[in-house]
Amino acid sequence: MKDSIRILQVDDDEEDFMIIQDLLKDITRQRYIIEWSPGYEDALDKIKDNEYDVFLIDFMLGRYTGIELLKQIRKNNNHIPVIIFTGQGDERIDMEAMNAGAADYLVKGQIDSNILERSMRYSINQAEAQLQLLDHEQSLRMAEKFALTGRMAQVIAHEIRNPLTNVKLAIQQLQDDLVNPSESMLSLIEMIDRNCNRINQLIINLLNSTKTAELNYEDVSINALIDEALELAHDRVQLKRMKIVKEYSNDICDVYIDREQIKIALLNIIINAIEAVEEDHGILTFRTEGRNDQCIVIISDNGKGMTPEEQKKIFEAYYTKKPRGMGLGLTTTQNIILNHKGTIKVESKPSLGTSFLLTFDFSPNKKN
Ligand SMILES: Nc1ncnc2c1ncn2[C@@H]1O[C@H](COP(=O)(O)OP(=O)(O)O)[C@@H](O)[C@H]1O
Ligand SMILES: [Mg+2]
Repeated sequence: MKDSIRILQVDDDEEDFMIIQDLLKDITRQRYIIEWSPGYEDALDKIKDNEYDVFLIDFMLGRYTGIELLKQIRKNNNHIPVIIFTGQGDERIDMEAMNAGAADYLVKGQIDSNILERSMRYSINQAEAQLQLLDHEQSLRMAEKFALTGRMAQVIAHEIRNPLTNVKLAIQQLQDDLVNPSESMLSLIEMIDRNCNRINQLIINLLNSTKTAELNYEDVSINALIDEALELAHDRVQLKRMKIVKEYSNDICDVYIDREQIKIALLNIIINAIEAVEEDHGILTFRTEGRNDQCIVIISDNGKGMTPEEQKKIFEAYYTKKPRGMGLGLTTTQNIILNHKGTIKVESKPSLGTSFLLTFDFSPNKKN
């Protein structure tokens, strides 16, 4: 449970706010921080820049109703639980609130601190469960999409390779058969040959970044492995005069992974982070921890960050914003993590920075 629960109460009557504030003082098992908002516009404004855990919204908000505010909150993709208050027990409002996605509906005169506490606790709990479910569904969709990309890459690669081999053979034949070719003819033939090789290399890269490799599982210390990956990026870190922060959990046990593969996956994330930060100001943070029987690795930078639209595309093959980028780094990383049945998630804010969160299974041999 959290240290403190942050509440926003939206009510045009400040006295009602004070009543709720009083009720909260009677609850000892949890600390609450409550803020008051007098109405619709002010509430939407506060919600934008603040993080709350639950909203208590009065049904009567001057020109608006609490349900309208609730709908607007949901429209802005905010999943924080909303409890609707009303003065009189009106069944119609109750149903309307429920249909609009309210977590609960309380009648003002009938609330005591116990009812309020329970309602908020259940609402927050359910919202969290809902969020976890959404998260899980998103991971599944991501894996599906990836499997599809992988299959498509296989098919396309195969289909291109056959004609490509024919072109290569024809070029060789031409080179052998030509009598007294001119300089320009030779350079044209060479150009065809060079580009065939390039296409072939592109196919190899694409296949490598999406293939399901054979994994050599072993017990590996995740902290030591991060150090190894970091060592491979040592020169680039020095070049940008970056600061490295390690927040390792020292009592987590080994993860069960393919050492070399995961090292590549980590290195790709590290290199992107290095490329995203400004010289002299870059901070790269590594955090490891055990959570719910899983090993979590969080790699954060304070680089240029990404918009939500960019974040949706970064795992796609060939997506890059760098003039000389290949756009296969994160495709490869995602592939490796998914092959391990792990998960990878990104969180980012433009001009603030980016975090990648990875999860792995702990070794079955030595449970925490
Ligand atoms: N840490 C990061 N900070 C900001 N943008 C990032 C970060 N990591 C990845 N990206 C974005 O994702 C894109 C794809 O990354 P990647 O697949 O490694 O390909 P590449 O590095 O070749 O561009 C990058 O071009 C960049 O726009
Ligand atoms: Mg990259």
